[in-house]
Amino acid sequence: MTELLRRAYSPATFRTEGHALIDQLADYLEGVTDYPANPYATPEQSLAVFRELLDRGAAPQEVYRQLIQDNVHLHHPDYLGHQVVPPAPLAALGDVAASLMNAGQAIFEMGRPGVAMEQLVMERFAEMLRLAPTAGGFLTSGGTLANLTALLAARARQWPAGGDAWRDGNGPVRPCLLVNAQAHYCIDRAVRIMGWGAEGIIHVPTDGELRMRTELIDELVADARERGLTPVALVGSACTTSTGTYDDIGALADAAARHQLWLHIDGAHGAAVRLDPERQHLTAGLERVDSLTLDFHKMLMAPALTTGLFFREAGDQYRTFQQEADYLLGKSADWSDIARRSFECTKRTLSLRVFTLLSAYGPEVFRDYVVQVGVLGRELARLVRRDPNLDLFMEPDVNIVCFRFVAPTLAVEQRSAVNELIRATLTEDGRRYIVQTKIAGQTYLRCTLTNAFTTTEHLQAMLREVVDRGQQFLDLRTTLPR
Ligand SMILES: Cc1ncc(COP(=O)(O)O)c(C=O)c1O
Repeated sequence: MTELLRRAYSPATFRTEGHALIDQLADYLEGVTDYPANPYATPEQSLAVFRELLDRGAAPQEVYRQLIQDNVHLHHPDYLGHQVVPPAPLAALGDVAASLMNAGQAIFEMGRPGVAMEQLVMERFAEMLRLAPTAGGFLTSGGTLANLTALLAARARQWPAGGDAWRDGNGPVRPCLLVNAQAHYCIDRAVRIMGWGAEGIIHVPTDGELRMRTELIDELVADARERGLTPVALVGSACTTSTGTYDDIGALADAAARHQLWLHIDGAHGAAVRLDPERQHLTAGLERVDSLTLDFHKMLMAPALTTGLFFREAGDQYRTFQQEADYLLGKSADWSDIARRSFECTKRTLSLRVFTLLSAYGPEVFRDYVVQVGVLGRELARLVRRDPNLDLFMEPDVNIVCFRFVAPTLAVEQRSAVNELIRATLTEDGRRYIVQTKIAGQTYLRCTLTNAFTTTEHLQAMLREVVDRGQQFLDLRTTLPR
């Protein structure tokens, strides 16, 4: 045993460093508004800062200080950027325990407490989301992986009789799925990974709010079959990433039943609105879907990555992987046997993050968060509508709001360039963080109201700055691209 190893594993050092870190983080949370919401740096500048720390062997506390200082600050009320939640501190605290214990969740005997908590978290959320009584599922590392896993289960159940994609590959079958073109890019990625190629993804045209026109599905399925394709699944978004649009789940469930397709709902961001009594209509029919992805790190207060993958028929989750691994995988379809169903072999104790929130605060804490950020979404939309220089893309159903600067004197063809400049200069300034998206080829500014402590005043100040910057760029318009 070397002295160095002894130091690296010293409980006494852990105690001192741990207390110091928690103090550092609590001070940070109390004073988060002293920082710019997203301090600007180029990749080279960040690399130089951390190279210097590494080269001189900086102490952990100094590294943490630099990390805190230079990071994006999700707990800052002017953080209005991508849809990652500021985690509840309690959920983050559990990560220290989970990391130290480091129990893999693949098999029960390696991770008993975490596996048991996972089962309870999934059970409790299936109830809170009012899924079918037959539902079951597990936690996995991100919406991307959950969506791929769900589609692999769909493939297994929907494959033409007599065939087996797991054994034979696609063979002569030309599978496809139907999806909103606005769905998250990971659906397209999953299709390509499964070897279905470009013909494997059929985009259902959308309406003015980018919702799938479900009345076109019958025709698209018939056309796909005529072309020799085998439709396997329908994939709906609840909601889409870019604009927060909810596909009509009830109509999708009807279409899936008519054509005997698997219905998967990517609710990574927005399925959580089902916890808001006033917005339950957005997910009407969710109890009918075959599989559902739900990210706890988007609207449910947990650190990334924490994703629930639910199946209406719990037995379907055992179809995904048909492997044998005598050293690890049992043969039974037992709830405690997670690696049979999940991509991960060694998996973090993801459940702890959600379990402690549930046990300490009850399900109401998730409802309160979802309601509050929804209220903020509507508030931002109200402020945008009041300003003649701004154009709201759609009335938000959730905490994603898209709008753009459109002063009457700004030529239509210069709108995108001006909005891109507004966003770029705001990002360099760093005090507020908003992002942008393209809708029908036009650039819009995009906010996700992910911090429940953002107020009307923060939103007003952000909009004022957007308009002020826009007005300044109007003076430059002769030099702007068209
Ligand atoms: C609708 C939707 N699905 C899937 C994803 C990917 O999720 P993850 O980043 O957890 O892999 C996102 C991410 O923004 C999303 O918005």
